[in-house]
Amino acid sequence: MSEKYTTETILVIDDEDIVRQSFCDQLEDLGYKVLEANNGKSGLALALSELPDLILTDLRMPLMSGIDLLDNCVRLLPDTPVIVISGAGLIEDVVQALHLGAFDYINKPVRNPNLLQATVSRAMQQVNLQRENKNYQLHLEQLVAERTTALSESNAQLELHKHSLEKLVDLRTEELVEVIDNLNNTQQQLVEAEKMASLGRLVAGIAHELNTPLGICLTFISSLQEKLTNFQRAFHKGQLRKEDFVSFLQSAKETSTIVTSHLTQASELVQDFKMVSVDVSSEMKREFDLVEYTKNVVNSLKAEVFESKIRIQYDRSSDYGINSYPGLFTQIFTNLIINSVTHAFVSGIAGKINIQLQLVGQVIVIIYEDDGRGMTEDTRRQVFEPFFTTTRGSGGSGLGMNILYNLVVNNLSGTVECQSQVNLGTKFIIKFPR
Ligand SMILES: Nc1ncnc2c1ncn2[C@@H]1O[C@H](COP(=O)(O)OP(=O)(O)OP(=O)(O)O)[C@@H](O)[C@H]1O
Ligand SMILES: [Mg+2]
Repeated sequence: MSEKYTTETILVIDDEDIVRQSFCDQLEDLGYKVLEANNGKSGLALALSELPDLILTDLRMPLMSGIDLLDNCVRLLPDTPVIVISGAGLIEDVVQALHLGAFDYINKPVRNPNLLQATVSRAMQQVNLQRENKNYQLHLEQLVAERTTALSESNAQLELHKHSLEKLVDLRTEELVEVIDNLNNTQQQLVEAEKMASLGRLVAGIAHELNTPLGICLTFISSLQEKLTNFQRAFHKGQLRKEDFVSFLQSAKETSTIVTSHLTQASELVQDFKMVSVDVSSEMKREFDLVEYTKNVVNSLKAEVFESKIRIQYDRSSDYGINSYPGLFTQIFTNLIINSVTHAFVSGIAGKINIQLQLVGQVIVIIYEDDGRGMTEDTRRQVFEPFFTTTRGSGGSGLGMNILYNLVVNNLSGTVECQSQVNLGTKFIIKFPR
């Protein structure tokens, strides 16, 4: 007797009642629940309806042989092991059964109950293992399914997130474009405002500059007028003396000299002011070689530069042909060279001037350098301001560099930069698109 009590069910199929009963008794003793059938056909039906854990079947039976039953079981109940019971001397049947998929075989009659127990429990172990395996597999599949669901959920969330991010980026881009537009507008307005401000400074400067010569003229002319009135009065009264006449003539001569000189000065100023807004449209635009043109301008200034040496450097393999207003370059170089002569090369020192012409891509770069006495930082900062000059008393109007600035920035759409240090010379870098 076994102490084992299980719910494991074994189906015993045998047409010999005594044999079948003996099996059933022994198995029940071992603690199994036992079902029985006395032929293959009803055995199969019972197996399909009750789904036992293990089948023990005889091989030779009426209606359906054990081999046919085994064949059916292997197909229909692949997880249920079948142990065949064979009579002595039927070894071919056993071999065929094992080929077909029988789990094991037992010879009958069973004389050793331990053998039956061992065979059955091995089969049961196999069943349990298979079940465990199956459960484990199921569990794994479930796990995979769960993970797959979770993954696709997070994928969906990611997709959503991506969408909202894209939308956000679009939105921000739109906002940025708007901000940039606004900035551009503001910049434009600032540029306009600055233009108006410098125009204002220019007008104020013009008024200030003209005030002196015109004021002097007015003083002298008024005084002459007064003298003329006195002169006329004396003449009509017949009181005009010779000395009065000579004195009046002297005054008239002096006044006219002074007035002429100051009016000339005023007129020159007006000419200079006109230059500030150089009217390029009145000059013809044409194709010319910048190197050749620069050489011509420098040659024409020979008389002005005295002993100073001017060197022009350029790349011989480059083409310096441009389509522009040549007069513009005359003014630019004249202003630069005359400035070097008047401001940099003082007390008769013959300095050196170096003009470099470069072609960087489609940009023309002019580097003008002198080795003169340079400028203080304060002067350098204001050099392009209209009316800024350090030589007001000796004829400077302070318009030269402002004219140059306007020509480069407004007419050539370029830039000009001034680098200078006291005693270390001055450098102007002009860049403009070809
Ligand atoms: N090459 C230079 N070296 C030293 N100082 C310079 C040089 N070029 C210009 N400057 C300084 O910059 C000032 C402004 O120059 P700008 O040509 O505008 O006026 P100006 O020469 O004084 O007068 P204008 O050219 O109207 O007769 C000059 O007064 C001078 O102080
Ligand atoms: Mg000047």
